[in-house]
Amino acid sequence: MAEIVLSQEEIAAAVKRIGAALTEELKDEKKPPVFLCVMKGAMPFYSDLIKCVERDIICDYVQLSSYEGGLSTTGNVRLQRECQTDLTGRTVVIVDDVVDSGLSMQFMVNYINEKYAAKRVLVCALFDKPNSRISDVKVDYCGKILEEPKFLVGYGLDYKQLLRNVPYVYVLEPEDVAKYDAIED
Ligand code: IMP
Ligand code: MG
Repeated sequence: MAEIVLSQEEIAAAVKRIGAALTEELKDEKKPPVFLCVMKGAMPFYSDLIKCVERDIICDYVQLSSYEGGLSTTGNVRLQRECQTDLTGRTVVIVDDVVDSGLSMQFMVNYINEKYAAKRVLVCALFDKPNSRISDVKVDYCGKILEEPKFLVGYGLDYKQLLRNVPYVYVLEPEDVAKYDAIED
């Protein structure tokens, strides 16, 4: 029996809570804030979250790659798709699935700061694994903190690009690894 970390009901509750908190946080912003989805992992979380933000926002996305599809980060973050919005003078909310080592999120924050004069940058992640940090990034809005750095799949989180479509989040077990390793491309 898989260890479920966030059920569909728990995801819905977390998304609603974060959406309400961001609505409050952003209520006095004059220019529409930009919600930046970090593809592909954040996609389901992002699409649910933006529907719970009750104000005008601009939606855009970037694509990063650091994991080569396996269980651990390579630490070598690359930008595969740039943001198309001019972020100058705007508040930016970066939405990702997990902040693990923090290297990807640090890369994103540096990219925004180097390329644009954004008003401020907020970090929102479904999961925060604070004990895995290599780069000291702060998560402003988080669905769930994981003290034990388990490898999770489902609701956007993948193992070798699989399992993103599962509607809840669970811990990938060694027998799952063997099963998905055996799948041909
Ligand atoms: P970081 O750069 O180590 O913080 O890793 C961030 C990225 O690695 C996330 O956006 C995910 O795409 C991926 N990642 C980290 N932990 C997990 C996990 O438990 N399951 C699936 N992907 C993960
Ligand atoms: Mg990701």
